[in-house]
Amino acid sequence: MYVDVESKDFDWIAGYKLCTGFVNPRPIALVSTIAPDGHTNLAPFSFYNLVAARPPVVVLGPSLRRDGRPKDTLVNIETTGEFVIATVTQDIGPQMVRCAADLPYGQSEFDFAGLTPREATKVRPPLVREARANLECRLRQIIRTGDEPGCGAIVLGDVVAIHVDDAVLDENGQVDPRKLPTLGRLGGQYYCSVGEPFEMEIPKT
Ligand SMILES: Cc1cc2nc3c(=O)[nH]c(=O)nc-3n(C[C@H](O)[C@H](O)[C@H](O)COP(=O)(O)O)c2cc1C
Repeated sequence: MYVDVESKDFDWIAGYKLCTGFVNPRPIALVSTIAPDGHTNLAPFSFYNLVAARPPVVVLGPSLRRDGRPKDTLVNIETTGEFVIATVTQDIGPQMVRCAADLPYGQSEFDFAGLTPREATKVRPPLVREARANLECRLRQIIRTGDEPGCGAIVLGDVVAIHVDDAVLDENGQVDPRKLPTLGRLGGQYYCSVGEPFEMEIPKT
């Protein structure tokens, strides 16, 4: 198959479905935000990664809805400048998927999904108590790729505090992947879990 993305016939939905079938597994950020009136919001995003170490910077990609409206997460990050990313492990997969339901603005996904908010230290949006790791983030920059349906808003955030459950750490304070079964997103409705983690060393030249 060959697809010319610059062709006038390019179908962005087909292109999205095709590319997410092989740009994977993608980590899943369960993003907690708060609206100016104080109500909480929680939604999963797999256009997500840690993209810099000093300072630690994360990237998120909340796309415009098919009717062109921005997602609540984007509206809240833009207005408050703060968000929290909870790491999704297999045990909270079903709750994470419920958070993707399109609830009316103002109705919290915490209650709908059966997850528990826990106070953060530096930002107003709450952590997810059930998640083994949470990152408190402050907005650095939003880069827009357009204003049509499906266009992206690339959110860069500085991590300002890191919470990790001691139970998933090894004796050196590093995360032991066998103790943290993160969930990955594949194409369509497919997910994968960490099966048998193995090591590979970069050769010394
Ligand atoms: C695993 C998973 C990953 C998702 N990743 C994204 C994403 O990267 N970008 C996006 O715009 N929507 C993504 N979605 C859809 C949003 O979660 C969904 O539109 C949600 O209702 C947005 O909520 P909000 O309006 O409260 O921000 C994803 C859904 C799931 C289940």
